[in-house]
Amino acid sequence: MRTVLASLLLCAALAASESHAQPGATSAGETSAEDVARGKSLTEAGGCAGCHTVDAAKPFAGGKRIDTRFGGIYSANLTPDRDTGLGGWSDDEFYRALRFGVARDGSRYYPAFPYPNFTKLTRQDILAIRVYLATLTPVRNQPRPPELSWPLNYRVVMRGWNWWFFKPGILMPDQHKSAEWNRGRYLAEGVGRCGACHTPKNMFGAEKRDQAYGGGRIAGVFAPRLDGAENGGLKSWSVEDIAEYLQSGRNGRSHAGQLVSEVVVNSTSKMSEADIRAIAVYLKDLPAGAP
Ligand code: HEC
Ligand code: HEC
Repeated sequence: MRTVLASLLLCAALAASESHAQPGATSAGETSAEDVARGKSLTEAGGCAGCHTVDAAKPFAGGKRIDTRFGGIYSANLTPDRDTGLGGWSDDEFYRALRFGVARDGSRYYPAFPYPNFTKLTRQDILAIRVYLATLTPVRNQPRPPELSWPLNYRVVMRGWNWWFFKPGILMPDQHKSAEWNRGRYLAEGVGRCGACHTPKNMFGAEKRDQAYGGGRIAGVFAPRLDGAENGGLKSWSVEDIAEYLQSGRNGRSHAGQLVSEVVVNSTSKMSEADIRAIAVYLKDLPAGAP
């Protein structure tokens, strides 16, 4: 354990010299009602409100405690308040946060903020979310700093984590698959972050890529496997079964417990029928995976 931590710290130091391109800051400029609507539906699909709201009367004002096995971490204020929210941010700063997990001051976020999933979003979609968030009522609220155990209380460690586990960048469409499958993959891997719960994680809290959708544990609850495995997977579910579950949290085969209900209520039930079906088509096509 110690040597692994030591090498993590070492690679943190090595990665510390790398930097991301920082094109000149630009601002949102002209925005149409259409952009706002698209941003709103992406924000819903991403379940941003679920993690960024404590008091329903002040949506997106942040400060919600997210428990990880390394300690607690508080979500940020996404309202356009200038001092404590995103009011003073440029488009590029917002883009960098979601695509690279890099904060305004260049420090790194913890993956309790699912940027390892959001990195798959196109720049256009990321900026649509920003356009929507900018229409919210500004709320002054400064979230508390994270309460994580050593050595994770040093944000610089996240440089090592990113270097090791994080692959930024969008998904290239798979030309051998249908447009619907590609849309489903984009939603599931990106804004829907299904793998954040349904893929097992290693001891550093990173998804095990070779066991994608093999089933995971989140906040003590088991998120079943979603691959094509006979036992515990979705082999016996039809595309319609999956779509019905994502829409309503129930179907003939299952019915959602509290955690996924939150996902269903906040996120998937608000997706369009076409998007839900696309996710179902994508999941249904996953290989069986290791038992
Ligand atoms: C699973 C919980 C969770 C979800 C879902 C989530 N976030 Fe967050 N977010 C966090 C946490 C926790 C932080 C603080 C991370 C840190 O301090 O390192 C954060 C930080 C951020 C930040 C950095 C803000 C700042 O002031 O530095 C932005 C921007 C952000 N989230 C946007 C979003 C958007 C947009 C969505 C939806 C597409 C979203 N988040 C969904 C948990 C979440
Ligand atoms: C915050 C964690 C979380 C996220 C994110 C999440 N799920 Fe789940 N999901 C669960 C849990 C936990 C269950 C287990 C059922 C329960 O207890 O409600 C579940 C159950 C399911 C089931 C039923 C499986 C079965 O065998 O009963 C399906 C299908 C499913 N999720 C699909 C998805 C899809 C698709 C996404 C992405 C759009 C997603 N989930 C995102 C936590 C999550």
